[in-house]
Amino acid sequence: MNTNRLSDTLAKALNDQMTNEAHNAQIYLSYASWASDKGYDGIANFLFRHSNEERNHMMKFLEYILKRGGKVVVTAIPEPGPDPASINDLFEKVFSSEVENTTRIYNIVDLSHQEKDWATFNFMQWFVKEQTEEETMALDLLGKIKKAGGAEANDDALYNLDKDLAGTPDDAVLAQDTSVENP
Ligand code: FEO
Repeated sequence: MNTNRLSDTLAKALNDQMTNEAHNAQIYLSYASWASDKGYDGIANFLFRHSNEERNHMMKFLEYILKRGGKVVVTAIPEPGPDPASINDLFEKVFSSEVENTTRIYNIVDLSHQEKDWATFNFMQWFVKEQTEEETMALDLLGKIKKAGGAEANDDALYNLDKDLAGTPDDAVLAQDTSVENP
């Protein structure tokens, strides 16, 4: 009896995205290590925590594939790529990588819509919302570095930015999620 509820195409897309979330975790790990090495411990801590979040995303895909009777294919994780040249470059790279991830998520949403796989379509909505938060988080980082002087940020400004990020929550709060009780 066939208990697999995923098409081959969607199973491959979900497995690829599972690996891509692991790749995202590696990217944040490498950036965090770079920042720590340069003495930016607050930024490093923020990025290390975010790497864990990406790993949780990977697990979410893995668990969903299993739940739908599909086959999980664990593969090698692509390398994260070169180190950033500066904090400004790091934050720009974070933004580009999140936008790229959003495109991948949208492609799976599109595919599940085409196949009328409403279970997967529904599952993917969590990631659509999550990517809005991730892009907001990346935009916040870009806003902070811009205020600090962008590519020309001096040591004092970067020191303050590092202190600021040490206490920043990982998740961005979206306007539609705020309320009087939860500002
Ligand atoms: Fe899992 Fe930052 O997207």
